[in-house]
Amino acid sequence: MTFRARHLLGIEHLAPDEIRTVLDLAETYVDLNRRTVKHSDALSGMTQINMFFENSTRTQASFELAGKRLGADVMNMSVAHSSVKKGETLIDTALTLNAMHPDLLVVRHPASGAVDLLAQKVNCAVLNAGDGRHEHPTQALLDALTIRRAKGRIQRLTVAICGDIAHSRVARSNLILLGKMENRIRLIGPPTLMPSGVADLGCEVYEDMREGLRDCDVVMMLRLQKERMDGGFIPSEREYYHRYGLDAEKLSFAKEDAIVMHPGPMNRGVEIDGELADDINRSVIQDQVEMGVAVRMASMDLLARNLRAERGRKAVGVMV
Ligand code: CP
Repeated sequence: MTFRARHLLGIEHLAPDEIRTVLDLAETYVDLNRRTVKHSDALSGMTQINMFFENSTRTQASFELAGKRLGADVMNMSVAHSSVKKGETLIDTALTLNAMHPDLLVVRHPASGAVDLLAQKVNCAVLNAGDGRHEHPTQALLDALTIRRAKGRIQRLTVAICGDIAHSRVARSNLILLGKMENRIRLIGPPTLMPSGVADLGCEVYEDMREGLRDCDVVMMLRLQKERMDGGFIPSEREYYHRYGLDAEKLSFAKEDAIVMHPGPMNRGVEIDGELADDINRSVIQDQVEMGVAVRMASMDLLARNLRAERGRKAVGVMV
């Protein structure tokens, strides 16, 4: 197994063989999670702390379940009731928790780069659960596993990423991962929701949904990230749905067996038609949620192996 990383901060730091290692190990956890007894001892004796400075349902719940199924002691820090509310900084909070000897720290933060900064201050392995517009690496990995299981491969596919690309860490991590795995990527959305420098990303860019979806294998919809918008980026939600909301008519331009994805939370009737989102013949949205637990188990398992090996090397060094 090839996985050299000390932390999981972004897809940009992973090589294709490391991505494949995570996906292959996650497959074994998909099987475990479907059993009645779901326990492993991969993180036995280890302590995992989850710190979420932004709201989350899927990521926080799946990291917590993942740690518990692997036998870790899991603590969810309640940011709303913590000393952050008294003005304590992220770094002081992290140093305080670090003094309690956690082994894995899972962090979501609204500021891009905050998780990288924190990783430089602590002794444990840090996993980025989403930082600002920067990266959401475990989302891209769970999306890759979902695609690989549905399409039988994660190379040479045409993938359309649609909607609010400018504000989306999900789009950014997926762009990097899908690019590393040699897929053809199309970005579809209004110019106001395209990131600056989009022409340099090596993707095809479309303003027209039907044109962009033509012959795609995978259609990845994105949430409108209103919490990161500081002005009017769309005329109205109704107009946005008319032009960019995915429905059966627009999807008919993609391949007949194209799959529909959305990272959640979804705004039905804004980014996607509710019936299409629930159509198990086209939508893999619930599979994405299932793969999320397995990918987070695999990521923490691999980081824990590296952490044990590093501590082992240090212990031998001390004895010598
Ligand atoms: N996809 C995702 O990150 O969802 P949550 O915000 O619910 O964790």
